[in-house]
Amino acid sequence: MDHRAWPQVTTLDAALAQGFRQVAADSARHLWSCPDAEFLAAARPDPDWPRQYFGAAYAALAERFAGDPAARTRRDIATIRAVIAEHLAPRPRILDIPCGTGRHANALAAEGFDVIGLDLQPGYLRTARAEGSATYAAADMRALPVATGSIDLVLNMWNSLGYFLDAAEEAATLAEFRRVLRPGGKVLVQQDLDAPAALGGHWLQHMKAPLGDGAWLLVRQVPDAALGGLACLSWVMLPGQDPFQGPAFFLRLRDDAAWAAEAAAAGFAKVSIARTPPGVAPHETVVLLGA
Ligand SMILES: C[S@@+](CC[C@H](N)C(=O)[O-])C[C@H]1O[C@@H](n2cnc3c(N)ncnc32)[C@H](O)[C@@H]1O
Repeated sequence: MDHRAWPQVTTLDAALAQGFRQVAADSARHLWSCPDAEFLAAARPDPDWPRQYFGAAYAALAERFAGDPAARTRRDIATIRAVIAEHLAPRPRILDIPCGTGRHANALAAEGFDVIGLDLQPGYLRTARAEGSATYAAADMRALPVATGSIDLVLNMWNSLGYFLDAAEEAATLAEFRRVLRPGGKVLVQQDLDAPAALGGHWLQHMKAPLGDGAWLLVRQVPDAALGGLACLSWVMLPGQDPFQGPAFFLRLRDDAAWAAEAAAAGFAKVSIARTPPGVAPHETVVLLGA
């Protein structure tokens, strides 16, 4: 989808009405600037938050946020091609989990790869099917409807791991990724956040991004030592309106030691981690797990 297809503010307004809720400007301002402990108490996520958060509003925001989405997808595809060239046979069978609206799965299918995309949200899968030729199904990443030992490359793109508050569910997810891999297969996890910096307290808590048409996305992300991740709240400010506040969300943070321990527990023999050097933006982490 290109820039010209971005929804106008009226459409964003309609999308925000699903999943986000309008709150008084004072309450948003308070949660934006209150002490961390107060924020963490208020931003405690519901364990089922992804079902509420990833909907029409998130999809509309993801298209407007983060610069040029098409360029970003092209960069990701180049990373994926490089991993295939270095580690796998030429025509790998690929599982994209979670695939969202299919931006990677459809691009790879268009290049002739055999790709299955799975996601929790049926609405995203409808968009994915309408925009390309990969195969799609609704699924939860904790229990993949995929045969054991049938996949050469599992893709987990754009901060799509670490959603579960319960560490056992995270372990189950990694074990599922391992289960479906063929011998010699790889799991590629891509994130644009710097987990070691956040765990070390070197972390920008407040993020503001223009959405165009005078609209803004604000996100406050505070490391939560008790949960081992980032507790986050987001607001969308549309001109002349009270802010829309999204459900609280959560991202588990893994440093190298956590990756090593959790990957080994899930049955992976190899872990390699590539991170953008400190101070270089945009940050990217690419983790490769080998069977
Ligand atoms: C940050 S988006 C990334 C989507 C896609 N990988 C991309 O790069 O555009 C995260 C996705 O995770 C999906 N999701 C969240 N929890 C899930 C779960 N338990 N099982 C499967 N998909 C899930 C959401 O529906 C959403 O599409």
